[in-house]
Amino acid sequence: MAEDVVEPVVAPEHCGIPAPTGEDPGDDRRHPRVGDADGGIRRLARVGERSKEVEHRADTEAGAWDNVPARIALARAITQAILERVPTTPGMHALDYGAGTGLITLGIQPHVGSIAAADSSPGMLAQIEGKIAASGLAGVRTLLLDLEREPPPGDQFGLIVSAMTMHHIENVPSIVAALTGMLRPGGWLAVADLDPDDGEFHEDPTGVYHKGFERAGMAGLFVTCGLEDVTCETAHTLEKPAKGKGLREFTVFLVAGRKPG
Ligand SMILES: C[S@@+](CC[C@H](N)C(=O)[O-])C[C@H]1O[C@@H](n2cnc3c(N)ncnc32)[C@H](O)[C@@H]1O
Repeated sequence: MAEDVVEPVVAPEHCGIPAPTGEDPGDDRRHPRVGDADGGIRRLARVGERSKEVEHRADTEAGAWDNVPARIALARAITQAILERVPTTPGMHALDYGAGTGLITLGIQPHVGSIAAADSSPGMLAQIEGKIAASGLAGVRTLLLDLEREPPPGDQFGLIVSAMTMHHIENVPSIVAALTGMLRPGGWLAVADLDPDDGEFHEDPTGVYHKGFERAGMAGLFVTCGLEDVTCETAHTLEKPAKGKGLREFTVFLVAGRKPG
């Protein structure tokens, strides 16, 4: 459940980050630490190699992904937070980037005209296709897409959501810029991810590039990309065993912003 307290980002200075300079947010030499709780991007592997790692992990996990109740609860909470924050309309074309098994895609679908579930993992997309076939759902399509390795498709969307995916992305500024470019004027971008987690959320760090994000940094990146009405809030709090420790609390934020127009 989204909390009532919302922190509007009225100016990037309020987030403790430099004001936007108009430079290319995809150039991480000039944005080495945007929103990254790890103190910089860990260059574990070249992008192509890393993407294969992530895909392999996602493909392996896809079949059993929905068997973990905490994942379902997290996806429901993020979906609800998005729906409370973003004004959806029945004619809206939406995109879920890093859709996984479609838990959030299918939660958003009844509130929009159509939604594309995009992911770099064919195994994850196969799970969604199974759900579409089983339920006869209209208005949902799958899209094999990795913006780290290919240009954005030509489509424009009124809403783009991305949940728990940015920590798997090496160059977050370039992906946020690409997603912003795929918004039609007036369209919304909503990103949910972990607050700084000391690397304790994932038991297996394969394909995990960021130990959570400073939400002020993510909000500042939205502002740098030209988005307005940027807000950040807590979408969900969960407890799970931390790597090498007992139970600990993790929080997931939602940052949302609107493209002018
Ligand atoms: C932790 S899962 C989250 C799935 C879903 N959003 C949810 O919250 O249930 C992360 C997803 O991001 C996808 N992913 C990772 N890197 C990606 C990339 N570069 N492009 C597209 N999808 C990516 C993975 O395949 C995986 O399905």
